[in-house]
Amino acid sequence: MRKTIIAGNWKMNASKDSVKSLIGGILSGMEGVNAEVLVCVPFPYLSQVELLIEGSNLKLGAQNININASGAFTGEISADMIKDFGAKHVIVGHSERRSLYGETSSVVAKKTKAALDAGMTPLLCVGESLEHKKSGKTETVVEEQINAVIELLGIDSFHNIIVAYEPVWAIGTGMTATPEQAQAVHLFIRNLLGESSENIAQKTPILYGGSMNAGNAVELISCPDIDGGLIGGAALKAEDFLQICKAG
Ligand code: 13P
Repeated sequence: MRKTIIAGNWKMNASKDSVKSLIGGILSGMEGVNAEVLVCVPFPYLSQVELLIEGSNLKLGAQNININASGAFTGEISADMIKDFGAKHVIVGHSERRSLYGETSSVVAKKTKAALDAGMTPLLCVGESLEHKKSGKTETVVEEQINAVIELLGIDSFHNIIVAYEPVWAIGTGMTATPEQAQAVHLFIRNLLGESSENIAQKTPILYGGSMNAGNAVELISCPDIDGGLIGGAALKAEDFLQICKAG
């Protein structure tokens, strides 16, 4: 039985004041939440959040890492650095990084490796653009994104990987995938993993992301192959985020 996981991706939204009230709000409503809950915060706020969540069930993650462990890479952040601030998870291959910062599936696979090498759990994001969806290429795109990781790291690496299916056309648009659409792609991903290992396929959490909110979370998460959510906008309001956490 896979556990429900709800992860907030704050993207580039935070201030010291907003972090204090958002984390405070989430912590005050965590009673009765059975899902595993984490927040992926911008780098400068890792330390603040690490202190605020001490002793709670809330987990901390980051949104990106460099493929290298250390060295002359000005402006970059390594997996060990974020781990140093209590982050156990890190998002890799978010579509915004793939499209705005040119991250190829090969780079994403290397970031996945960097996270695993540091003993962290990567949240590996995959998903197709509207163009790809319209031309019927959803499965081809997702397969290429997943296979890049299997080719570099082997199927056993998925023991410690969380997959997040985030159709690009659903991110920040309010155009959520229907439960049927999302379930179909989640099942496709699980079957793809199952071609290499049925055991891994059954154990790997596959989260949905893309305009998930308090109103549609229950319906999405109750699909058999949707194991939780990666939440953007709705993760910035404690009340909304908590409602999604309680849907799991
Ligand atoms: P929204 O929930 O704002 O659509 O963002 C989803 C996302 O990109 C999470 O990583």
